[in-house]
Order: sequence, then C-alpha cells, then structure tokens
Amino acid sequence: MKPQQRIVRYSAPERINHWIVAFCFILVSLSGLGFFFPSFNWLLNIFGTPQLARILHPFAGVIMFCAFMLMFLRYWRHNLITRDDLYWAKNIHKIALNQEVGDTGRYNFGQKCVFWAAIACLLLLVASGVMIWRPWFAGYFPIPLIRAALLVHSLAAVGLIMVIMVHIYAALWVKGTITAMVEGWVPAAWAKKHHPRWYRELQEKNALPAENRKDRT
Ligand code: HEM
Repeated sequence: MKPQQRIVRYSAPERINHWIVAFCFILVSLSGLGFFFPSFNWLLNIFGTPQLARILHPFAGVIMFCAFMLMFLRYWRHNLITRDDLYWAKNIHKIALNQEVGDTGRYNFGQKCVFWAAIACLLLLVASGVMIWRPWFAGYFPIPLIRAALLVHSLAAVGLIMVIMVHIYAALWVKGTITAMVEGWVPAAWAKKHHPRWYRELQEKNALPAENRKDRT
C-alpha cells in the first residue's frame, strides 16, 4: 500500500490508550473468571500467583476504567446514534452478506452499540467493584448491598466479555480494520467502502490523500 493511499484513523496516543484498555481487559477478565469458577482457578496465575491476582485485579480494573474514560471523551460524539443508523440496523442481513453498508460515518451502528454497551458495563463494574473491594471500601457498605453488588459485578463482567468478543470478531471480520488500531492508518478504499460518509467528510475538509481528493464518485 503506497503511503499516498493511506488515511490516518488513529494517532499514536490514541492507539496506546486503546491497547492499555485491551491489555487490562485481558488481565481482569481472565482473573475474574478465575475467581468465579473453581475449575478456572489456574487463570489467576496471569498475575503471577492467586494472592497477587486478588490484590491486583481491582487496580487493573480501575486503570482499565480510567483509560476507557479517555477513549469515551475522545469518541462519544462519533458514536451518537443518528437516523442513518436505523437504515444500517434494518438492513443488517445485507450488511452481513457484504452487499451494502448504508451511509455510514466514522463508526457504524454495530460499533456504536458496542461503545455504549461497554461504557454501561464499565460503569456498573467500577461502582459495584468499589463496594466489594476488601479491605479498603467494603467495610463502609451493609452486607445486603455487598451481596447485590457481587451479583451486579458478575453480570456486568459477563456482559462486557460478550461485548468485547463481538468487538474483536468485527475487528477481524472487516479486512483492514486491525491495521487501523495497530499502525494507525486505513486504505482510502477501505474508508470509501465501509464508512462512505466519513470518507466524504474528509474529502470536504481536504484531508484525503492527494490521489483521492478529486474522486467524486
Ligand atoms: C482485546 C482485543 C481488542 C482488539 C483486537 C480490538 C480491536 C480494535 C480495532 C481494530 C479498532 C478500530 C475499529 C475502527 O476504527 O473501525 C478498535 C476500536 C475501539 N476499541 Fe477495541 N479492540 C480490543 C479490545 C477493546 C476493549 C477491551 C475495549 C473497551 C473495553 C475496546 C474499545 C474500543 C473502542 C471504544 C474503539 C473505538 C471505536 C468506537 O468508538 O466505536 N477495545 N478496537
């Protein structure tokens, strides 16, 4: 791919931010499954020892939450649901068959749903996580509330794991997407095909590679 056919999608700080979130997610989700299911106890070794996992799991969770909040501040505007998203949702069968994508902007409806579901799960996880965090905070909450928080924490964790599985599947399924988050750029043809409105917006701002500036199709 010639550099003049590439469009920058994520800067280096954005990519570092994303991979910090992803790295913490792997640590907390695997150790969380290790706490939950006795048959998965061996997963606790991801932190070195089960004792370290018990201490570090909440800290890694807080780092993941704070890093995701930076992503939230960066991308929430791009993830607002618009009228065009309803077209995407109604034509999901055509989209799954790669027949069309609708007039999609920087993110499609599927990505937007993942974004809002992730923030909802993370807010529940952090709020319930603080309530069950021994020995620091749990002592401030009554036992029935801690029991409820444990249930909320487990359900939100299962929700987030499912959401991120969809996110990873979509990132691998749409060819060229992983490069966006690894190297920071996408081919101009990728943008035109999968995010035509974003492509036009870049065209209007004169932000496309030189070769594509005059392309009005
Ligand atoms: C662990 C493996 C992961 C992989 C392989 C992955 C891959 C990717 C890729 C390729 C993109 C670029 C998509 C595009 O620009 O169209 C992306 C964007 C994004 N990722 Fe991930 N990701 C992972 C984990 C996570 C986690 C754990 C979270 C959050 C909890 C997350 C949140 C996001 C968000 C918010 C975006 C921007 C898209 C949007 O705002 O809708 N990712 N990811």
